[in-house]
Amino acid sequence: MNTAIACTEEKHLSKRMDTNGKAATTTTAIKRRLSKSNDLTTTTPEKRLREDNNKSNGSKKVSSTVATVTKQKPKMITSDRIVRASQSRYRPYFVAENSENSNDSRASPVGDPNLQTILEYPGDNENFLLLRPVLKNSSSTSNNSSNSHNHKTLQAVDDVEDKDEYNPITDLIRSAYFIYECYLTPEQQDLLGDDSHGIMRNLNKHRNRRNANGFIEAVHDFNRVIRDLKAKGELSKNAKAMRHPSYDLACHILYQVYSRTVAPQADALNNYQAFSNNVYGEINPILVKEFISKTKLNSHSVFMDMGCGIGNVVLQVAAQTGCEAYGIEIMEVPCKCAKRQLKEYAARMKAWRLPTGKIHFRHGDFLDVGSSDMYQTLKRATVLLVNNYAFDWETNHSLAQLFLDLNEGTKIISLKSFVPKTHKINQRTFHMPESILRVEEFEYFSEAVSWTNNGGTYYIATVDRSRLKPFYEGMYRSSQR
Ligand SMILES: C[S@@+](CC[C@H](N)C(=O)[O-])C[C@H]1O[C@@H](n2cnc3c(N)ncnc32)[C@H](O)[C@@H]1O
Repeated sequence: MNTAIACTEEKHLSKRMDTNGKAATTTTAIKRRLSKSNDLTTTTPEKRLREDNNKSNGSKKVSSTVATVTKQKPKMITSDRIVRASQSRYRPYFVAENSENSNDSRASPVGDPNLQTILEYPGDNENFLLLRPVLKNSSSTSNNSSNSHNHKTLQAVDDVEDKDEYNPITDLIRSAYFIYECYLTPEQQDLLGDDSHGIMRNLNKHRNRRNANGFIEAVHDFNRVIRDLKAKGELSKNAKAMRHPSYDLACHILYQVYSRTVAPQADALNNYQAFSNNVYGEINPILVKEFISKTKLNSHSVFMDMGCGIGNVVLQVAAQTGCEAYGIEIMEVPCKCAKRQLKEYAARMKAWRLPTGKIHFRHGDFLDVGSSDMYQTLKRATVLLVNNYAFDWETNHSLAQLFLDLNEGTKIISLKSFVPKTHKINQRTFHMPESILRVEEFEYFSEAVSWTNNGGTYYIATVDRSRLKPFYEGMYRSSQR
């Protein structure tokens, strides 16, 4: 089940952007924090929400040039807020009458555009509107235009689901499954059942049957178990033991971050000049995962993405390894997205009770070594990423000059090699950056990058000056003569 979840999310993440790309478009909004939920049997979801409404905490400041994770408690942009901001694209999901409990006297909230519920996370909670995204040109305009209950129901059924748009119910269910899979011991999981029985089954069953009361009740049962475990300190203990999220959980959290911060601005990201160094394309999460294992990135590493775009690689590397991670980006819009993502990432990692690591984004030119503190960081980096697929010869050449200052053993991942296949180390070339780089070539497969569905090649160069020794010794000997 988890694998399926991860694959879908990875696909969603990999759809984030392409050069012509359609990307999901929702709008961000201000956060409202809701902290506790009540029993469905004693109150309506709406009343419960009102009672649950908590005051939000102060937000941290992000400077205009550098964004860093700070110690202040950050606020999450909740699911209901982004959905509410583009509510015309959403319709009620729960359209079926409550068929399970014929004795149930509660009013069924069928067709209610304000139907919502809270999900308890290991370190926070989040409010979700129980709506589904529909295609803009669906048969109906808005259910506000309808007065009759039947008409509303018909409209919702007629609308075609927009599979590329953020879906709050899917997000809620996936989050619940990740909490179940990653934060609970088998004994604790027993309290929630599984696919075939208990609360976990009810979540899926009532979602599939579009039974609003049943679904909300299952979420509240889930929350009750999670709150009990939280009160006993069990979840923080389990989260600590996990240390860093798995790849699948990292993908889920990064998808949550992306859908609340970048997706609403996706159109602004398409203003790249074609055939320039700034043409945008992304390494997809599956290939970033491979980079992490191939370069042995770990919590002691210092990672830097030269031309980090919206910062997705930096965040994934930091999330999966806990290392120091840096990104520098020349274009203003993607760099702002990176900083916005970082802020949301910090809040979400807190909600998932996971460490954020040390992350910085810098707006600037990676070649401008004089005015950027990033140059100092570059010199102590252990792994660099240069997605130079679209960089021109001058940029690649100037970047290579910077590599002369790198520490021995530093690894540079790139999409074009910095060392021509014909390069030979000799008296004439041994002082060149190409001569200190030992390059390995690897293949990537379809869906690994955003700009093509085809496979391709990437390179990992390791700074290795050992091969220059004979040339320096020769120089020394001739100077002695
Ligand atoms: C192909 S995108 C890569 C995004 C991200 N690193 C990834 O691989 O998913 C390359 C990025 O490098 C940025 N870039 C190009 N020249 C740059 C420079 N001199 N300094 C900083 N960033 C630069 C571009 O604006 C673009 O966002």
